[in-house]
Amino acid sequence: MLRTKTATTDTPVSHTPDNVSIKPQRMGFEFGEQVPRYWLDNNYLLSHMMNALSVLFPQGEQFFVDSVRQYRDQITDPKLKEEVRGFIGQEAMHSLEHVAMNQHVRDQGMPVDDMEKHLAVVLGIASKLPRRHQLAITCALEHMTAMMADMLLERDDVREDMHESMRPLWMWHAIEETEHKAVTYDVFKQVGGTYAERSFYLAFSTAALGVMATYFTTRMMLNDPKHFSLKDAGKGLWRMWGKNGTFSSLIPSWLEYFKPDFHPWDHDNSEVIARFKSEIEQHIAPQYKNGNRRTLQ
Ligand SMILES: [Fe+2]
Ligand SMILES: [Fe+2]
Repeated sequence: MLRTKTATTDTPVSHTPDNVSIKPQRMGFEFGEQVPRYWLDNNYLLSHMMNALSVLFPQGEQFFVDSVRQYRDQITDPKLKEEVRGFIGQEAMHSLEHVAMNQHVRDQGMPVDDMEKHLAVVLGIASKLPRRHQLAITCALEHMTAMMADMLLERDDVREDMHESMRPLWMWHAIEETEHKAVTYDVFKQVGGTYAERSFYLAFSTAALGVMATYFTTRMMLNDPKHFSLKDAGKGLWRMWGKNGTFSSLIPSWLEYFKPDFHPWDHDNSEVIARFKSEIEQHIAPQYKNGNRRTLQ
């Protein structure tokens, strides 16, 4: 594949493989009594941590969309233009589905409103940064999302740990994150984003995400003290950061981003999309079948 290192406004810059399409799809997931409180590996810490991540998504994804929108008129590659449209639509759908999940978490008595207020403050500060820095943050967080998505789709043990009532949401999100994993990166390159910017903001965004996710998880746990279990917490930490942990195993992919010629599709995992797409399409709610799609652009 021909790779453009220094993009100009009339050079094709999209590097998404032709067998990958980026189309939004509303799913209409429902979260009720069928979802156990500790839906991930029946584990207190892991379930609260994933609920905390879900609280980050709606506003976080809005930030991603806004950071790309600011450059929309500078994208001249028709393929990339179309992909940006798909990216915006997909992230909008993710937000809507996670809003539904977050309401379920709120209904369990979790301080979701408080957490959302704190997140709004943090993202409000980030949105004051120069716009290319905002885009670099988005690229970094999209890289981390894509790493987690790949891990989820590749590892049977991780998917099997999820309760069947939650698994489709996370698999659907992972598939679409894989589909659009290079869109913001290609935009960033086209508009002159530099190696220094993207490297700095990967480190910065990782630290910020780590702090926010830890703070939110702690808030969730403090709100659910009667079920605290030291054994569960230890097991959950080992599952994340121990040998072959869900996070520790991602360190090599995280480091890849620091290669000067890195591109998200250097790791071509388009095969996992095809592997799970039809399975997940069976979970589309009836009212959203037959092309009843909605994009917020
Ligand atoms: Fe997303
Ligand atoms: Fe994304």
